[in-house]
Amino acid sequence: MSELVLQSDSVAATQAIGRRLGTRLMPGHVIGLIGPLGSGKTTLVKGIAEGAGVANLRQVNSPTFVIVNEYEGTGGGAGLAIHHIDTYRLQGSRDLEALGFDEMLAEGAIVLEWADRVADLLPVDLLTIRLEPLSECGRRLVCTASGPESESILRAL
Ligand SMILES: Nc1ncnc2c1ncn2[C@@H]1O[C@H](COP(=O)(O)OP(=O)(O)OP(=O)(O)O)[C@@H](O)[C@H]1O
Ligand SMILES: [Mg+2]
Repeated sequence: MSELVLQSDSVAATQAIGRRLGTRLMPGHVIGLIGPLGSGKTTLVKGIAEGAGVANLRQVNSPTFVIVNEYEGTGGGAGLAIHHIDTYRLQGSRDLEALGFDEMLAEGAIVLEWADRVADLLPVDLLTIRLEPLSECGRRLVCTASGPESESILRAL
């Protein structure tokens, strides 16, 4: 288990952190984001998508109503499917299971907003990022890796 605490003072700084993480994203990786409304979860995902080679970043938005967005990245060479999941409107992890969480994980990488709502479905090896608002533009990002795969992503920071 390793933890890294970062501070961001702008949207650009949060996206830059995401970009660094995105360069390490590989199939089977899971990044879980936790934080209140407007804390910057989607902003971080935009950076992750950019770092992972997603060409059209305008498609990266909170999938609040559709639940899952899928982007095509490059994942350091070969193609990488990135599933961007927003669990806000789900009842819980059984809903996400029914939407095909296991298949999404087998196909590519997963980034979830409100990961705490489906915690029991997530793999043991998981990069968790808690976004804590400090001020209007200040955010603390508490990043925790819980296995070798998530540690490899965290080493980008
Ligand atoms: N340092 C920062 N990092 C990220 N966002 C910031 C920062 N400072 C201010 N903001 C603002 O906070 C908001 C973050 O919005 P964003 O959609 O990324 O949050 P979210 O956590 O995904 O929200 P939701 O729970 O509604 O999905 C934006 O309005 C952005 O301009
Ligand atoms: Mg969002």
